Amino acid sequence: MEKRQQRTKITVPEIRAMKRGGQRLAMVTAYDATFARLLDACGVDIMLVGDSLGMVVQGEKNTLGVTLDHVIYHTQAVARGTQWAHVVADMPFMSYQSSVEEGLRNAGRLLKEGHAEAVKLEGGRRHVELVRRLTEIGVPVMGHIGLTPQSVHAMGGYRVQGRGADAARQLVEDALALQEAGIYALVLEGVPQELSAQITSCVGVPTIGIGAGPHCDGQVLVIYDLLGMDDSFAPRFVKRYDHLAGRIRDAVSTYVDEVRRGAFPGPQHSVSSSPRRTEPAADTEVAETVPLYPGVTLVKK
Ligand code: KIV
Repeated sequence: MEKRQQRTKITVPEIRAMKRGGQRLAMVTAYDATFARLLDACGVDIMLVGDSLGMVVQGEKNTLGVTLDHVIYHTQAVARGTQWAHVVADMPFMSYQSSVEEGLRNAGRLLKEGHAEAVKLEGGRRHVELVRRLTEIGVPVMGHIGLTPQSVHAMGGYRVQGRGADAARQLVEDALALQEAGIYALVLEGVPQELSAQITSCVGVPTIGIGAGPHCDGQVLVIYDLLGMDDSFAPRFVKRYDHLAGRIRDAVSTYVDEVRRGAFPGPQHSVSSSPRRTEPAADTEVAETVPLYPGVTLVKK
């Protein structure tokens, strides 16, 4: 008898095991339930509710204004739309930097209220105490080192980090310290590929790269970048798998034109007071119940 492979929810132990098994991880960002449902169906391993939402959803210049409540709101939506992928929520700027106690409380809210399965935080050795305490109480932590966007002002912009022997050594030490504190995965952002290869070989947890070359155990991209939804943003590390910006413009311009010309809605998009009087389109069945949205039906009496 043919044995069918059952898809199961991806867990923290499985993510760790994927490195040991040499399986690469595919992570993307998500901010709402509709995208989450689509991405989940594509076999994405990890869905990150990134604080990049400040830039791509809220239209801000950087991620600094994102609040814990914003991340909770978006994580709730993503969790509702996700069945299989592992859902990680970003800890936004100033939700964990001022004290370990505050970091613990806020990470707890991301799991309790947002329904995240893990949290991600930016920075290395300075956060080992928080990582250790979170890990002890059962909150999985994903680290994030290299180009850390919450430190944009300190870095003087979004610049590659870890160039030069000293800077590279600091990042290796950060990775090892976070691993020792208990992280289960580590994002490497904006670092030279030789350095990410070195970090990947010296830590036992999976590394997930963005602008960090091909030698990481996995890759992450902001979903809007992957889909080409902003044609003014084309950094070297992004591969656009589509150019949705142009396709969205075409579709919506057609809609605007059809509304103005009176070509939409047509008979197939309209209902009459008597079902018999409805002009059915060739492929439309006239029924006593009229579906309005998926799952919402207007029952005609
Ligand atoms: O906020 C985010 O989207 C991120 C990823 C780019 C790693 O941190």
